[in-house]
Amino acid sequence: MKRILTIATLLLSIAACGQNNNKNMNNQKTIVAYFSWSGNTTEIANYIAAKTGADTFEIVTEKEYPTEYQPCTEVAKAEKEANARPAIKGAIENFEQYDVIFIGCPVWWYTGPMAMMTFLESYNFEGKTVIPFCTAYSGPSQTLKAIVEATPKSEHKDGICVVTKELGGKGLDKKHGEVDAWLKKIGF
Ligand SMILES: Cc1cc2nc3c(=O)[nH]c(=O)nc-3n(C[C@H](O)[C@H](O)[C@H](O)COP(=O)(O)O)c2cc1C
Repeated sequence: MKRILTIATLLLSIAACGQNNNKNMNNQKTIVAYFSWSGNTTEIANYIAAKTGADTFEIVTEKEYPTEYQPCTEVAKAEKEANARPAIKGAIENFEQYDVIFIGCPVWWYTGPMAMMTFLESYNFEGKTVIPFCTAYSGPSQTLKAIVEATPKSEHKDGICVVTKELGGKGLDKKHGEVDAWLKKIGF
Protein backbone atom coordinates (compact mmCIF):
# COMPACT_ATOMS: atom_id res chain seq x y z
CA MET A 1 0.00 0.00 0.00
CA LYS A 2 2.81 2.34 1.00
CA ARG A 3 4.58 1.63 -2.29
CA ILE A 4 1.41 2.36 -4.32
CA LEU A 5 1.03 5.67 -2.49
CA THR A 6 4.67 6.56 -3.17
CA ILE A 7 4.27 5.77 -6.87
CA ALA A 8 1.04 7.78 -7.01
CA THR A 9 2.76 10.76 -5.35
CA LEU A 10 5.65 10.48 -7.80
CA LEU A 11 3.29 10.39 -10.80
CA LEU A 12 1.38 13.39 -9.46
CA SER A 13 4.62 15.36 -9.02
CA ILE A 14 5.71 14.51 -12.58
CA ALA A 15 2.31 15.60 -13.91
CA ALA A 16 2.54 18.86 -11.93
CA CYS A 17 5.99 19.54 -13.36
CA GLY A 18 4.70 18.94 -16.87
CA GLN A 19 1.87 21.40 -16.36
CA ASN A 20 4.23 24.05 -15.06
CA ASN A 21 6.56 23.57 -18.02
CA ASN A 22 9.37 23.91 -15.49
CA LYS A 23 8.35 27.41 -14.52
CA ASN A 24 8.94 28.74 -11.02
CA MET A 25 6.34 29.75 -8.46
CA ASN A 26 5.99 33.13 -10.18
CA ASN A 27 5.08 31.21 -13.36
CA GLN A 28 8.14 32.58 -15.10
CA LYS A 29 10.68 30.55 -16.98
CA THR A 30 14.03 31.38 -15.44
CA ILE A 31 17.68 30.77 -16.21
CA VAL A 32 20.85 31.57 -14.30
CA ALA A 33 23.68 32.48 -16.71
CA TYR A 34 27.07 32.86 -15.08
CA PHE A 35 30.80 33.05 -15.57
CA SER A 36 33.11 31.69 -12.91
CA TRP A 37 36.87 31.33 -12.84
CA SER A 38 37.54 29.62 -9.50
CA GLY A 39 34.07 28.33 -8.63
CA ASN A 40 32.63 30.95 -6.26
CA THR A 41 30.11 32.29 -8.75
CA THR A 42 29.25 28.73 -9.79
CA GLU A 43 28.36 27.93 -6.18
CA ILE A 44 26.07 30.94 -5.87
CA ALA A 45 24.58 30.40 -9.35
CA ASN A 46 23.70 26.80 -8.52
CA TYR A 47 22.17 27.88 -5.22
CA ILE A 48 20.00 30.53 -6.93
CA ALA A 49 18.95 27.96 -9.54
CA ALA A 50 18.02 25.40 -6.90
CA LYS A 51 15.99 27.97 -4.95
CA THR A 52 14.16 29.40 -7.97
CA GLY A 53 13.73 26.27 -10.10
CA ALA A 54 15.86 27.84 -12.84
CA ASP A 55 17.94 26.32 -15.60
CA THR A 56 21.64 27.18 -15.67
CA PHE A 57 24.08 28.19 -18.38
CA GLU A 58 27.79 28.55 -17.75
CA ILE A 59 29.56 31.19 -19.83
CA VAL A 60 32.86 29.59 -20.81
CA THR A 61 35.48 31.25 -22.99
CA GLU A 62 36.96 29.39 -25.93
CA LYS A 63 40.40 30.31 -24.68
CA GLU A 64 41.03 29.18 -21.12
CA TYR A 65 42.31 31.63 -18.52
CA PRO A 66 45.51 30.84 -16.60
CA THR A 67 44.78 28.67 -13.59
CA GLU A 68 47.12 30.68 -11.34
CA TYR A 69 45.69 33.83 -9.77
CA GLN A 70 48.38 36.38 -10.69
CA PRO A 71 48.69 35.40 -14.38
CA CYS A 72 44.90 35.39 -14.62
CA THR A 73 44.73 38.95 -13.30
CA GLU A 74 47.23 40.02 -15.96
CA VAL A 75 45.26 38.46 -18.84
CA ALA A 76 42.05 39.96 -17.45
CA LYS A 77 43.65 43.40 -17.15
CA ALA A 78 44.92 43.29 -20.75
CA GLU A 79 41.46 42.27 -21.98
CA LYS A 80 39.85 45.10 -20.08
CA GLU A 81 42.31 47.66 -21.40
CA ALA A 82 41.72 46.40 -24.96
CA ASN A 83 37.92 46.41 -24.42
CA ALA A 84 38.11 42.84 -25.77
CA ARG A 85 35.23 40.49 -26.53
CA PRO A 86 36.64 37.01 -25.84
CA ALA A 87 34.76 34.31 -27.78
CA ILE A 88 32.50 32.10 -25.69
CA LYS A 89 31.56 28.45 -26.19
CA GLY A 90 28.02 27.33 -26.99
CA ALA A 91 24.79 29.25 -26.54
CA ILE A 92 21.58 29.18 -24.53
CA GLU A 93 19.06 26.97 -26.33
CA ASN A 94 15.66 28.51 -27.02
CA PHE A 95 16.61 31.76 -25.35
CA GLU A 96 13.20 33.27 -26.28
CA GLN A 97 11.45 30.98 -23.77
CA TYR A 98 13.02 32.70 -20.75
CA ASP A 99 11.23 35.49 -18.86
CA VAL A 100 13.83 36.01 -16.14
CA ILE A 101 17.59 35.84 -16.48
CA PHE A 102 19.87 35.97 -13.47
CA ILE A 103 23.30 37.04 -14.74
CA GLY A 104 26.35 36.59 -12.57
CA CYS A 105 30.13 36.78 -12.61
CA PRO A 106 33.08 37.57 -10.37
CA VAL A 107 34.27 41.16 -10.04
CA TRP A 108 37.36 41.49 -12.22
CA TRP A 109 39.23 44.74 -12.12
CA TYR A 110 36.25 46.61 -10.64
CA THR A 111 33.91 45.37 -13.38
CA GLY A 112 33.04 41.99 -14.93
CA PRO A 113 35.23 39.75 -17.10
CA MET A 114 35.12 40.99 -20.69
CA ALA A 115 33.50 37.68 -21.71
CA MET A 116 30.40 38.99 -19.92
CA MET A 117 30.21 41.73 -22.53
CA THR A 118 30.49 39.09 -25.28
CA PHE A 119 27.61 37.25 -23.62
CA LEU A 120 25.45 40.33 -23.04
CA GLU A 121 25.87 41.44 -26.65
CA SER A 122 24.92 37.99 -28.01
CA TYR A 123 21.25 37.97 -27.00
CA ASN A 124 18.22 40.22 -27.18
CA PHE A 125 17.19 40.91 -23.58
CA GLU A 126 14.37 43.26 -24.54
CA GLY A 127 11.24 42.68 -22.46
CA LYS A 128 12.94 40.23 -20.12
CA THR A 129 13.76 40.70 -16.45
CA VAL A 130 17.49 40.75 -15.82
CA ILE A 131 18.79 40.27 -12.27
CA PRO A 132 22.52 40.79 -11.76
CA PHE A 133 24.68 39.12 -9.15
CA CYS A 134 28.38 38.86 -8.52
CA THR A 135 30.97 37.50 -6.15
CA ALA A 136 33.99 39.51 -5.04
CA TYR A 137 36.90 39.75 -2.67
CA SER A 138 35.87 43.18 -1.42
CA GLY A 139 32.74 44.51 -3.13
CA PRO A 140 30.73 44.91 -6.32
CA SER A 141 32.45 48.04 -7.69
CA GLN A 142 30.87 48.62 -11.13
CA THR A 143 29.98 44.98 -11.87
CA LEU A 144 26.25 44.93 -11.13
CA LYS A 145 25.86 48.32 -12.81
CA ALA A 146 27.72 47.10 -15.93
CA ILE A 147 25.24 44.22 -16.35
CA VAL A 148 22.30 46.60 -15.96
CA GLU A 149 23.76 49.12 -18.39
CA ALA A 150 24.42 46.43 -21.00
CA THR A 151 20.74 45.38 -20.92
CA PRO A 152 18.97 48.76 -21.30
CA LYS A 153 15.75 47.32 -22.72
CA SER A 154 15.17 44.91 -19.83
CA GLU A 155 13.47 45.31 -16.53
CA HIS A 156 15.85 44.92 -13.61
CA LYS A 157 15.67 43.87 -10.01
CA ASP A 158 18.24 44.79 -7.38
CA GLY A 159 21.31 42.59 -7.58
CA ILE A 160 23.52 41.09 -4.91
CA CYS A 161 27.27 40.93 -4.41
CA VAL A 162 28.41 38.00 -2.32
CA VAL A 163 31.74 38.89 -0.73
CA THR A 164 34.21 36.16 0.17
CA LYS A 165 37.94 35.96 0.81
CA GLU A 166 38.04 32.33 -0.33
CA LEU A 167 38.25 30.72 -3.75
CA GLY A 168 36.89 27.54 -5.28
CA GLY A 169 33.41 27.95 -3.83
CA LYS A 170 34.70 27.18 -0.31
CA GLY A 171 32.68 28.39 2.67
CA LEU A 172 29.95 29.90 0.56
CA ASP A 173 27.25 27.85 2.24
CA LYS A 174 27.67 30.41 5.06
CA LYS A 175 26.36 33.03 2.63
CA HIS A 176 23.21 31.17 1.65
CA GLY A 177 21.16 33.06 4.26
CA GLU A 178 22.18 36.32 2.58
CA VAL A 179 21.09 34.95 -0.80
CA ASP A 180 17.80 33.70 0.68
CA ALA A 181 17.01 37.16 2.10
CA TRP A 182 17.84 38.83 -1.21
CA LEU A 183 15.70 36.40 -3.23
CA LYS A 184 12.81 37.00 -0.86
CA LYS A 185 13.23 40.77 -1.16
CA ILE A 186 13.06 40.64 -4.96
CA GLY A 187 10.02 38.37 -4.98
CA PHE A 188 11.28 34.80 -5.20
C1 LIG B 1 41.32 38.66 -12.66
C2 LIG B 1 40.73 38.95 -11.32
C3 LIG B 1 40.42 40.23 -10.95
C4 LIG B 1 39.78 40.50 -9.73
N1 LIG B 1 39.43 41.78 -9.42
C5 LIG B 1 38.72 42.02 -8.28
C6 LIG B 1 38.27 43.36 -7.95
O1 LIG B 1 38.51 44.32 -8.70
N2 LIG B 1 37.57 43.51 -6.79
C7 LIG B 1 37.28 42.46 -5.94
O2 LIG B 1 36.64 42.68 -4.90
N3 LIG B 1 37.69 41.20 -6.22
C8 LIG B 1 38.40 40.95 -7.36
N4 LIG B 1 38.80 39.68 -7.67
C9 LIG B 1 38.42 38.58 -6.76
C10 LIG B 1 37.19 37.83 -7.31
O3 LIG B 1 36.15 38.71 -7.68
C11 LIG B 1 36.62 36.86 -6.27
O4 LIG B 1 37.61 36.01 -5.78
C12 LIG B 1 35.45 36.06 -6.84
O5 LIG B 1 34.63 35.56 -5.81
C13 LIG B 1 35.92 34.90 -7.70
O6 LIG B 1 34.80 34.33 -8.32
P1 LIG B 1 34.90 32.97 -9.15
O7 LIG B 1 35.37 31.91 -8.17
O8 LIG B 1 33.51 32.71 -9.61
O9 LIG B 1 35.87 33.16 -10.25
C14 LIG B 1 39.48 39.43 -8.84
C15 LIG B 1 39.86 38.12 -9.20
C16 LIG B 1 40.48 37.87 -10.41
C17 LIG B 1 40.87 36.46 -10.77
